[in-house]
Amino acid sequence: MTYPETMEKNMQTASSGLDGVIAAETRLSHVDGLRGRLVIAGVSVEDLAPNASFEEAVYLLWNDALPTAADLASFEERLAARRRLPGAASRTLHDAAAKRVPPITALRMAAGTLDADQPDAGTREQAESVLAQFPVIVASYHRLLAGLEPLEPRTDLGAAANYLYMLTGMEPPSDRVRALETYWNTVMDHGLNASTFTARVIVSTRSDLISAVTGAVGALKGPLHGGAPGPALGMVFEIGSAQNAEPYLRGKLDRDERLMGFGHRIYRVRDPRADVLSDAAARLVRSAEFEETYALARHVEEVAVRLLAEYKPGRGLQTNVEFYTALLLHGLGLEADFFTPTFAASRVAGWLAHCLEQMESGRILRPESRYVGQVNRPWVRQDERA
Ligand code: ACO
Repeated sequence: MTYPETMEKNMQTASSGLDGVIAAETRLSHVDGLRGRLVIAGVSVEDLAPNASFEEAVYLLWNDALPTAADLASFEERLAARRRLPGAASRTLHDAAAKRVPPITALRMAAGTLDADQPDAGTREQAESVLAQFPVIVASYHRLLAGLEPLEPRTDLGAAANYLYMLTGMEPPSDRVRALETYWNTVMDHGLNASTFTARVIVSTRSDLISAVTGAVGALKGPLHGGAPGPALGMVFEIGSAQNAEPYLRGKLDRDERLMGFGHRIYRVRDPRADVLSDAAARLVRSAEFEETYALARHVEEVAVRLLAEYKPGRGLQTNVEFYTALLLHGLGLEADFFTPTFAASRVAGWLAHCLEQMESGRILRPESRYVGQVNRPWVRQDERA
């Protein structure tokens, strides 16, 4: 059977998992997988994450410039004023909590209602509202699952402090706010990852921001992407003791299972975000209980990287961001099913930045597929089929 010419062309260019395909130009972030470097709007993640406030880092990402004190104050004020959720989002969260829907699914459901009170105009103002409301959705749902009414967002706190306040009802100490801001700054953008690509594809059709971030949450929640930290921490707890690490991990690799929190499509060396978060988690080590978990996690990491090199030689499988995300968010007192929604509360800044950038470039994202099915199948009438 001869394939038409276009199929021949596709067969030559098909790339499994879109590996190595450049689908967009961006000025937002650069991931250098061979050198293990991440640059966000020109600043290395090591410099940006532990030093900037979340709002400062988002301003940089969105405006391609560090804010002056006046710019930052006005940005913070605008975001704080936009935190209140539309009624439809609150009702959706109440309904979801009554059915004990998982938090990341509740976030996806509520995200889709954020344009209920005003149509999505695809503007910077709309983006500010979405950014301000994402953490409020997550914190409100946390309260509802605990049988409590959500707290009113505070306008006198920054995004990270307000998130921790809305989760716990207590104004958080500065070291915890710093830890969360370091985490949020670390994960806000990361090239054309699966959820960001999803968001860009959606707005490339001239659809809207709410559709894009809702689709992006759907892509993020999978265990091969943003859903990894819960299982990564679960693995550390299941291992339980240093001497159990090697037999446990060998067992998983012998069964051809993946070790969550390891491996990356782009990084062939250690994910630089893992170092930033490991340092932030180390600073958070306070309680004896967390110190023990932290020490065990370091040991599990060491054994996992050694075994991955043995089982998958030449693959360069190293620790990724999710391993220390799990540890840091656990140290902040979050339950595992709130790890991915807390990730989303930051990554939404990246999704929105990519959407605004994509809207400027204008072209619909429409790759091709390689057809591997039948050609020339004869049509047989229903009453003549065997
Ligand atoms: N544990 C064990 N083996 C692994 C792992 C892992 N964590 N990651 C990759 N491999 C193996 C694969 O089984 C495969 O082996 P094979 O060639 O013998 O079949 C080989 O390495 C290559 O795997 P691919 O799936 O081609 O790698 P890909 O680049 O497509 O996947 C991914 C990247 C999805 C992150 C993968 O490494 C993985 O599944 N990791 C675990 C999940 C995880 O931690 N995800 C979070 C990533 S960070 C983020 O998204 C925010």
